[in-house]
Amino acid sequence: MTALQTLTLTRPDDFHLHLRDGAALRDALPWTARQFARAIVMPNLKPPVVRLQQALDYRGRILAALPQDSDFTPLMTLYLTDDTTPEMVEEAWSSGAVHAFKLYPAGATTNSDSGVTELKRIYPALDAMQRVGMPLLIHGEVTDPDVDVFDREAVFIDRHLIALHRAFPGLKIVLEHITTAHAVAYVREASELDAQGVPLLAATLTAHHLLHNRNALFQGGMRPHYYCLPVLKRETHRQALLDAATSGDPRFFLGTDSAPHARNTKETACGCAGCFTAANALELYCAAFEQRGALHRLDDFASRFGAAFYGLPRNTGSVTLERTPWNVPEALPYADTDIVPLHAGELMEWRLRVAS
Ligand code: NCD
Ligand code: ZN
Repeated sequence: MTALQTLTLTRPDDFHLHLRDGAALRDALPWTARQFARAIVMPNLKPPVVRLQQALDYRGRILAALPQDSDFTPLMTLYLTDDTTPEMVEEAWSSGAVHAFKLYPAGATTNSDSGVTELKRIYPALDAMQRVGMPLLIHGEVTDPDVDVFDREAVFIDRHLIALHRAFPGLKIVLEHITTAHAVAYVREASELDAQGVPLLAATLTAHHLLHNRNALFQGGMRPHYYCLPVLKRETHRQALLDAATSGDPRFFLGTDSAPHARNTKETACGCAGCFTAANALELYCAAFEQRGALHRLDDFASRFGAAFYGLPRNTGSVTLERTPWNVPEALPYADTDIVPLHAGELMEWRLRVAS
């Protein structure tokens, strides 16, 4: 059988993205806008996007930073804190501009200092979210320093998520950027589909967690560009993630977690967490799906299941990828310095065709 040479997808969406602000936003955003029609934009700015007005202002800055011919739509989120009230949830929901709230356990990752210190404190807000239908997006890692960094996701599920899901069985939840077989199993077992086949509990999967195990962090030396949170796990977990992504199960959909950090903040003694994948995201997902001979499943994963979960119309139009090997640049301009994309300098098999 001859290998597929082109792949056409309905215009996809990125359901987990960091865009930053200012000069970084200016340089990061066009990469996503050329690949995706919409993206769920994470609120972990400094200071975090906590109130509706901050999200509206941030959306304005994103729209202003778009290339002129782009029709990319940012889907805004708010950052949950101990002080988020039910009124803030209702106001955000009725604005139509806010599509989810993001839960960062305090201290779990980049810019999460204002995160939630104890889940019980946000129960009134979660109750309001359940009532109106606002999704809760979870960075599912415990922050307890006694828990091994590779176990933090599994321990979060056992210690917190199971109880939270039981307390709010009607709350829409996305367990973001899952990294373990444990998370895959939990999502499969705990999430029911509604009459339309839409799940209440779902998970996003990044391209880097589908393509790499934790060996990538130490291949011939320390590799800071593979360091992200949750950290890469062992190969058995990667295989479970690939199973989930390529299974055609609507509970698993695309979220890149592209998290730009300037090169000098990664290649340093205490480097930032985050992989920058926006510049070659679809190409990376193609490489992952092709490992399983499942390119025919990529359209649903990238362009259908996430939109259905969020109650968004499916995009019109399409993007095409070609089997045209190319080299990922060593670095790209970023906020007056540079940034290293994932797979920098390496050959990629698939390439997104640029609209002419
Ligand atoms: C993200 C970032 O840099 O904002 N980093 C990461 O490693 N994924 C934060 C996050 O999503 O955890
Ligand atoms: Zn993220």
